[in-house]
Amino acid sequence: MGYLFVDDARARLAAAEDLLDDGTARVLERFGVKEGWRCLEVGAGGGSIARWLAERGADVAATDITIDDLDPGSSGRVEVRAHNVFTDPLESCAFDLVHARLLLEHLPEREAVLQKLVAALKPGGWLIAEDVDYVSAIPVSALGGKEHAHTQAMRLHMFANSGVDHNLGRALPSLLRAAGLEGVDNAGRVWVMEGGTAGARWFKISMAHLRPRLVGPGKLSDAEVDRMLDLFDNPAWSALSPIVMAAWGRCPAL
Ligand SMILES: C[S@@+](CC[C@H](N)C(=O)[O-])C[C@H]1O[C@@H](n2cnc3c(N)ncnc32)[C@H](O)[C@@H]1O
Repeated sequence: MGYLFVDDARARLAAAEDLLDDGTARVLERFGVKEGWRCLEVGAGGGSIARWLAERGADVAATDITIDDLDPGSSGRVEVRAHNVFTDPLESCAFDLVHARLLLEHLPEREAVLQKLVAALKPGGWLIAEDVDYVSAIPVSALGGKEHAHTQAMRLHMFANSGVDHNLGRALPSLLRAAGLEGVDNAGRVWVMEGGTAGARWFKISMAHLRPRLVGPGKLSDAEVDRMLDLFDNPAWSALSPIVMAAWGRCPAL
C-alpha cells in the first residue's frame, strides 16, 4: 500500500511545519542535541526539523521518499537522501538521535520500520516518534459541528482502508518498549482549531488534496467537501485537534 500523500505539495508540508515545529522543538530540547552528534530525520518532508537539529551543531541525514521539497538549509550539516525507510538499507549503530514525525502512522509496516530505526541508534541514542491520535478531535462550535463530525468520520474511514493508523499516538509508548527501548516516556499536544488559523489550514489543505478519494458513491459529495473547506476558513468554526503524541526512548547502553 503506497503513501497517500505521495504528491505532497510544498504548501501541505509547510502548513504542518508552521503548526507543529514549535512543539517538536520543545520535545527535542530535552535531549541536549550538540555538536558532534549524528542525527537521522526520517520522512523529513520540507526539512525544517533537520535544519533545527543542524542549527544545534549536529550532522543530520534527512531522508524521504520524495526529496523535491526537502530544503537542507545553508549549514552544510544536512545530507539529503532519497530513501524508503521500509525497503532501503539503513546503517546500524550510527545515530545519537532518530526522529520521525507523522511518518509511522502512514506505514502499515510500522513495527518492522521501528525495529530498523532502533537498530540505527548508537547505544544510548534516542528515538523520538510523533504521530496523531484522533480521539480528541471533536467539534467545538455548533456552527459546522455535524458537518465536521461526518466528514471527519468519512476521512478516517478512508485512512483506515489505506493502511493509515489514525490512532497510533496512544500505541507509541508500548511499541517503543516492544522495540527494545528503555526510559520510554511521552507527551501529547492538542489545540482548538479555529477557522482561518494555521491549525485549520492544515486540515483544509489535507481535505482539498484528498477530495478525489473522499468523494463518490457511499462517500462524501463534492458539496459536503466544499462546505467543510469554507468552514475551515470561517473564524466562527472550531474543533479540537487530534493529539500529536510524542514518544521517546533510549537504546540500551552496551
Ligand atoms: C505527513 S508527511 C510529514 C513530513 C515531516 N515529517 C513533517 O512532520 O513535517 C510524511 C512524510 O513521510 C514521507 N514518507 C512516506 N513514506 C515514506 C517511506 N516509506 N520512507 C521515507 N519517507 C516516507 C513522505 O514523503 C512525507 O514527506
